[in-house]
Amino acid sequence: MARLLYVEGSPRKSRSVSIFAAQAFLDAYRAANPSDVIDRLDIWEDLPQLDQNAFEAKYAGLAGVERTPAQQAAWDRLDQLAQRFRAADKILIGVPMWNFAIPYRLKQLIDLVSHKDLLFTFDERGLNGLLTNAKALVIYARGIGYGEDTGMPLEVWDQQKPYMDLWLRFVGVPNVQSMIVEKTLFEEDRDAVRQQAAALAQGF
Ligand SMILES: Cc1cc2nc3c(=O)[nH]c(=O)nc-3n(C[C@H](O)[C@H](O)[C@H](O)COP(=O)(O)O)c2cc1C
Repeated sequence: MARLLYVEGSPRKSRSVSIFAAQAFLDAYRAANPSDVIDRLDIWEDLPQLDQNAFEAKYAGLAGVERTPAQQAAWDRLDQLAQRFRAADKILIGVPMWNFAIPYRLKQLIDLVSHKDLLFTFDERGLNGLLTNAKALVIYARGIGYGEDTGMPLEVWDQQKPYMDLWLRFVGVPNVQSMIVEKTLFEEDRDAVRQQAAALAQGF
C-alpha cells in the first residue's frame, strides 16, 4: 500500500484545468491502485502563517536552544504539514501559472515546509533533501501558449516549471514527471486532458 499526496493548487474548483487533470489522473490511479491512500491537501483551505513564533522556533532549533511552548506549537504545525510530504511515496501537484510563476499560496506552502530537519538537512557537504524515496508528477496549467513560435520563449517567460523542478530537486525528489496544459484561456479540449492525465496514472 502506497501513499499519494495530492497538493491542489488552484482555487477555481470546477473551472480549474489543473484540478480537472489531477482528478482524471486520480480516477485512473485509484482504479489501478485501489488500496493506496490518497491524501488531498487543498492549499486554499487553512494554511498556517510563517509568523514570529515559527521563525523563533526555527532559529532556536538551528541554535540548539530550547523552544517556548508557543514556539514549539508553531513548529509542530509546520512539522505536521511537512510530515504529509515525508509520508508520501508519490506526490501529485497541480500548479496554475500566475504571473508567469506559481500561485502565492503554493509558495506559502513551500515556505512553510522547507526547513532544516523538516524536508532537508544540511551539513558541511551541503543540502540533502529528505524526500529521496518519493516520486512526483506536476501538472501545469497556463492560460496562453509559450515557445519560440509564440514570441514568448520558455527560458524567458516560464518561472513556473523551472521553480517547481528546482524545489523538488532541493527537497530530494529524484524522479519528477510533468504534464503541461497550455492555452486554457482559449481552447479547452477536456477529453484530451483527461486522456493524457489518465495515461500518466498507469505505472505511476
Ligand atoms: C492571478 C492570475 C494570473 C495569471 N497569470 C498568467 C500568466 O502569467 N500566464 C499565463 O499563461 N496564464 C496566466 N493566468 C491564466 C491561468 O494560468 C489559467 O487560467 C490556468 O488555466 C490556471 O490554472 P487552473 O485552470 O488550474 O486554475 C493567470 C490567471 C490568474 C487568475
